[in-house]
Amino acid sequence: MKTIGIIGGGQLGLMIAEQAHVLGARAIALDPAADAPAFSVCDEHIVAAYDDAAALEELCRRSDAVTYEFENVPGEVLVPLCKRYNIPQGFRPLHDSQDRLREKRNAAEHGLRTPRFEAVDDAASLRRAVDALGMPCVLKTRTMGYDGHGQCVIRSEEDIPAAERLLSVPCILEEFVRFDFEASVVLVRDGRRTVSFPVGRNIHRDGILDLCVVPAAMPDGLRGRMVEASERFMESAGYTGILAIEYFVRGDEFYFNEMAPRPHNSGHYTIEGCTTNQFRELVRYLLGEELVAPELVSPTVMKNILGEDLVSAERIAAEGRQGVFVHLYGKTESRPKRKMGHITFTGMTAGEYDREWAEGFVGGVTAR
Ligand SMILES: Nc1ncnc2c1ncn2[C@@H]1O[C@H](COP(=O)(O)OP(=O)(O)O)[C@@H](O)[C@H]1O
Ligand SMILES: [Mg+2]
Repeated sequence: MKTIGIIGGGQLGLMIAEQAHVLGARAIALDPAADAPAFSVCDEHIVAAYDDAAALEELCRRSDAVTYEFENVPGEVLVPLCKRYNIPQGFRPLHDSQDRLREKRNAAEHGLRTPRFEAVDDAASLRRAVDALGMPCVLKTRTMGYDGHGQCVIRSEEDIPAAERLLSVPCILEEFVRFDFEASVVLVRDGRRTVSFPVGRNIHRDGILDLCVVPAAMPDGLRGRMVEASERFMESAGYTGILAIEYFVRGDEFYFNEMAPRPHNSGHYTIEGCTTNQFRELVRYLLGEELVAPELVSPTVMKNILGEDLVSAERIAAEGRQGVFVHLYGKTESRPKRKMGHITFTGMTAGEYDREWAEGFVGGVTAR
């Protein structure tokens, strides 16, 4: 029996471990928190920091293949391990995604259109970049940002002092894309073939993914170009394993926003919405098994459950409605804005979600 090692024990690690079990493998996760969600389903676990080289090595020793769900594993510890253990995705896709400036340059180099951007290190370069890109624009820290943290939209001169507060670390200024909607694609590539999951439309609230609607309503030609460009990007960059790419769509153009070489929140719908899911195909890749191309089972809406939605989610779980799948991650502490779970509504269109469910959640936006 093979063992999948997972660096990170959050909800992504939990769902990777579940699918490892489905495919007859064991799972071991490493996480700094003793109550990490993935530990409850893993066969073994290690409580240690992400930069604890000895602990990461122990994880590798106990695993046949190692993957990561945490994006900020330092290269200094991972690179030496990649040489000695089976970490098939390697460090490079992580390295390329850990810095927003490098990430956008890399995307452009490999054929994807990005919003215009400038490197910003101080007030003077911010001034020059704002003049070059115009307002509105978005200042982001180059590293460690997530769920809208470390970002500031500059709409007018008055916003610049607040933006300058981000400049204690290197930043990137981006043109603000007045997108029609956001979309994402999850791909898994084993070096021979690439499978891609149906494109979802992503609706954010306060910088956090709120809803993912699949299929994304868009012309088939545009969808096809997006998937094709994503596959070509992955091949051109030489990545294998799993990759999620977020895009802004405006008219018939799409702009690369960011990528993540791990399962993605917008791909959670695949567990029930598709014939195979993002976690299972990642595990197949890790086990060296042939990948299986997914099919969409039915129109699907995924709703993220943050702390403030937990009571509603528990009520919906108790109702046990057909086609409604409530996933709670078992996090011990619930906080507003913390991802506590998600609900997948299968056989559900955006319009039906709006009519039946949107109002049941705190500040829930609709899928329109
Ligand atoms: N250049 C941009 N133009 C318009 N909206 C943006 C831009 N950059 C970010 N946003 C908005 O902020 C959200 C979060 O930004 P993102 O770069 O994806 O960071 P993260 O998801 O890591 O917090 C995006 O999903 C989008 O809604
Ligand atoms: Mg994002």
